[in-house]
Parts: sequence; C-alpha cells; structure tokens
Amino acid sequence: MVGKITMVPSAIIDQACALLAQGQAVAIPTETVYGLAADAIQDRGVAAVYALKNRPIFNPLIIHVPTLEAAAEVAVLTPQALDFAHHFWPGPLTLVLKRTAHSSISQLASGGLETVAIRVPAHPIMQTLMRAYQKPLAAPSANRSNHISPTTPDHVRASFGDQTPFIVDGGPCVVGVESTIIDMTGEVPTLLRPGFVTPEMIQEILGVQVINGLNGPLKAPGMMKRHYAPTRPLRINALPSGDTQEAYIGFGPTQMSCTFNLSFTGCLIEAAARLFSMLHQADRPPFTSIAVAPIPTDGLGLAINDRLQRAAAMAL
Ligand code: TXA
Ligand code: MG
Repeated sequence: MVGKITMVPSAIIDQACALLAQGQAVAIPTETVYGLAADAIQDRGVAAVYALKNRPIFNPLIIHVPTLEAAAEVAVLTPQALDFAHHFWPGPLTLVLKRTAHSSISQLASGGLETVAIRVPAHPIMQTLMRAYQKPLAAPSANRSNHISPTTPDHVRASFGDQTPFIVDGGPCVVGVESTIIDMTGEVPTLLRPGFVTPEMIQEILGVQVINGLNGPLKAPGMMKRHYAPTRPLRINALPSGDTQEAYIGFGPTQMSCTFNLSFTGCLIEAAARLFSMLHQADRPPFTSIAVAPIPTDGLGLAINDRLQRAAAMAL
C-alpha cells in the first residue's frame, strides 16, 4: 500500500460527531476513497447526503460500522458471510446482506430495499470516529454524483466548492478505488462491483468461488454505466495521439512520452491508489482531453478497468 495516514486531534472527532448528531453530512477518510457520511439512523442526515451529492434516492448508500458485532445488529450475517467478514474486515470489502427485522438503518439510506450494503473500514481515523459516534454511518463517496471519486480532501473541495462540508482530514487514501461489493443474499456470492479484494483472493483464501454479477440483473443500483466521469473526453486502452493538449496517462515502464504514469514499475496496487488523483489532474487546463494506456485486467486491474470504462462511457 502507498500513501501516508495523518492523525487528527480529538477536537476534530468531537466536532464531526456533533455535526452528525445534528443530521449534517461530514466528509470522512476511508482506506478506499473519502466518504460523505451521515448518521445512518436519521433520515434527515441521509437526506442531506443525497441532496449534497445530487444523487438519485433509489441508489442506496453503504453503511459503515466499526466491528462485525455492530454489523450483526443491523444485518443478517449468514455463516458464509461471517467467513468473508472474518477474513476481510476491517478492509475494503462491502457485503450486501438481508436487513435484520429490527434493523435501525434508515429506509432512505438503504433505498427501501430488504437488503443493506455494509462494510467495516480499516482507516484508523474512520475507526476512531465510528467508535466515538457509536451509530452506523451511511457514506457514499464524497463527490457530486457522476464526478470522479475523491482520494484527498482537495478533491472533496473541488467537487463541492462553496458547499463543501466539514472534512475530517486523514491524508490521501491508500487503496484509491471504492470497496469491492459482493451480494451475499443469493445462492452464491456475486460480485457487484470490483475493488481491492478480488475474486482470485477470495478463491485463494476462502476456497469460495464468487460469480461475476457485473453485467447481470443483480447489479448494484448505483452501477450506472457512466459513473466516474471526468469532464473532458477520455480514451482508454489508448496510444498517445501526439496532441500536447491531451493528457496521456501511462502505465508501467514505457518508452512513450507520458504526461502522467499510474505506476512506473507496473504495480496495480500503486496504479489503483493513484487512478482518481491522476484523472483529477488530467481533467484541468492546459489539457482538453485525456487518454489512458491499456491496463492489465488481472487482479486489481479488473477494478481499474471497470472504473475507466465507466468514466469513458458516453451515455448514461
Ligand atoms: O469504498 C467505498 O465503498 C466508499 C467509501 C466511502 O466507503 N463508498 C462508496 O459508496 O463507494 P457509494 O455509495 O458511492 O457506493 C454504493 C454502491 C452503489 O453502487 C449502490 O448501488 C450499492 O453500493 N449498494 C448499496 N446498497 C445496496 C444494496 N442493498 N444492494 C445492492 N447494491 C447496493
Ligand atoms: Mg461513488
């Protein structure tokens, strides 16, 4: 993993808790991307998140809790889900589970579904905040809908401008792409969004085969085709055009002239951590368009290619 995690004073955590309790949205660091958090029990806070992001309310949010025990209060963990949780929590894995009968999670947060997407983030500052607040936090990525996901506080400010919420600064995010989402409510675990935890890792560690639901009917409601989009045209799997106004994002040791390089050594972990940051840098003057080199599709490359394809898609 790359990147540096900064610590925050307890006064910042107290202030964040006070705002959350008032039903306000707060930007928080996680190991994947910055989230826009609200108290997941209060419709008011959840509504503030949807409004600030300009997000359709049928697109449910991920619920963040500090421990497996806290997850079990709001969702049903089947034996297989417990296996996943024991191995990958805290960490960049979200499980879609059935709500418990007495689940206190706001219906607005879970889009009125019988299921709920839950994760236990590993980021130490987020852990401190969740333990201090003692209630689940609903948190989508801290950007306006369809903008590039934020991996630094500056990205959050760039997306929200004068509507920027209070930000708990945790430094740059080490993983850089959103959590893997796996639906555990069907007969077999189904991948709804690729991320740092890959089906290969799950197969190797748990001996469980995860089926690919990326193009199937079970899709996560928020996995719209155009999602992680820069404002400039984007070519993927591309060679440089030679146009100096095109930002060319390379990958690996290459003789080609690159404006940026996701990883000079060809490391997919480093590339994922830098992906959104480089798209942000390429999506400003003097550049008028963006092109990205081919990225291998194995392991974490699946998640990187998934984000790039969505960013490049021309229509909703
Ligand atoms: O890494 C992450 O997961 C980040 C950080 C902040 O934790 N959060 C994040 O949240 O990416 P968001 O809201 O941008 O993504 C939520 C995804 C959407 O694609 C949504 O459709 C899906 O989770 N989702 C939420 N609840 C679901 C459910 N009950 N069933 C299926 N998909 C669900
Ligand atoms: Mg998002």
